[in-house]
Amino acid sequence: MTLKISVIGTGYLGATHAACMSSLGFEVIGIDVDPAKIESLAAGTIPFYEPGLQELLQSELASGRLSFSADFNTIKDCDVHFICVGTPQVKDGLAADLTYVFGALRSIAPIIKDGSLVVGKSTVPVGTAAKMREELLTVNPSTDLAWNPEFLREGFAVEDTLKPNRLVVGVTNDRAEEILREVYAKSLTEETPWVVADLPTAELVKVAANSFLATKISFINAMAEICEAAGGDVTVLAKAIGYDPRIGSRFLQAGIGFGGGCLPKDIRAFMARSQELGAQQALEFLREIDSINLRARTRMIDLVRKDLSEDLRGKKIAVLGAAFKPDSDDVRDSPALDIAVQIQGAGALVTVHDPKAIENAAKRFPTLGFAESIEECVAGADLVLHLTEWKIYREIDPTALIKLVANAIVIDGRNALDRDKWRNAGWKFRALGRSNI
Ligand code: UDX
Repeated sequence: MTLKISVIGTGYLGATHAACMSSLGFEVIGIDVDPAKIESLAAGTIPFYEPGLQELLQSELASGRLSFSADFNTIKDCDVHFICVGTPQVKDGLAADLTYVFGALRSIAPIIKDGSLVVGKSTVPVGTAAKMREELLTVNPSTDLAWNPEFLREGFAVEDTLKPNRLVVGVTNDRAEEILREVYAKSLTEETPWVVADLPTAELVKVAANSFLATKISFINAMAEICEAAGGDVTVLAKAIGYDPRIGSRFLQAGIGFGGGCLPKDIRAFMARSQELGAQQALEFLREIDSINLRARTRMIDLVRKDLSEDLRGKKIAVLGAAFKPDSDDVRDSPALDIAVQIQGAGALVTVHDPKAIENAAKRFPTLGFAESIEECVAGADLVLHLTEWKIYREIDPTALIKLVANAIVIDGRNALDRDKWRNAGWKFRALGRSNI
């Protein structure tokens, strides 16, 4: 008999997981406490931008295997329950807010059927899974809890879920592993590495991976600072060190740094947890990783002042990009938006363009100026900032654009534009970590 699956929490992770599990042939019910989200998903519309997901959602709804509900009773007879709710940073500290994970567990524990398996996918501080398992077993000793961290990247969510580069399962017994093997049978036939761990290790794998990625980005941004001081070029340096297979070229793109709903909050929650464990010294370096990352935003603003004037009041600045990265409409902790807001705070007249994230950006910062087109955004600008590396910005014709601006200065905050092309078109070109002469 095919397993029946529930997915609790239908945000980024949950909506993707539900649609992907359905595409593997399982009957899936997505549950959320937000009725608006459920209504939208049930009607075939994802409330955020993610390439390929909307189409998959619609075809899975049409197949009859996938449904959404705000009523927890609908999941009673599911065999596996994936918890995919958020763990944001708490308002008064660095730790993760576990209200939603425990809330989800407490909503399902009394109603799920005997023998069913609860699987956590949310990113949690190490030790959470064991606590949840204990609580679940107190309510229903015939059930079980496992941990199966998710590594999906925004912009590649469907691909990362259906073709993961590894599957990690934290279990306390063989039966839980067998059930998860059944869920991921298709990936396993494609020889996806299968890593079986205990609960704490499975939880740690996720935060360790994100800490490593954050470290890689901050490392190259630290090198960018040195290149600026010494007159070097970080893009050439990154290319050269990246050829060493032990280092690798990915995640060495210097610029305004990392943002989004994961990396910043995950490294902070990891630091907070290490303190609780009495092992804070081991993660002291993450404090520096965070500082380098935030400094990249300040360095960008310093470049603006250097190129335009110390006093930014009344200067017209065009900002290309609001999302925390391309192919996403997510503006959570977006370095691009943070820079736009800080420059506006210094008195500049800021107009922001983004192909997908304007609506979310405007909700968060309604006083910023927004433009529907690149042309409208740069019209009469004293300076253009490139802050999210969307493909459409790389395809800009700088010869055409120069006619629209008041001052032909562009600063590339993502080291993604073709410097020679812009310079040849008559622009003064600046970038983080490159000799800015
Ligand atoms: C990340 C992890 O990659 C993923 O495995 C995890 O499940 C969730 O967190 P995501 O937040 O989607 O995924 O974004 P990612 O592609 O990792 O980028 C994070 C940030 O780093 C973005 O702001 C991006 O612009 C920045 N970045 C990335 C750089 O500044 N330089 C790089 O070289 C790479």
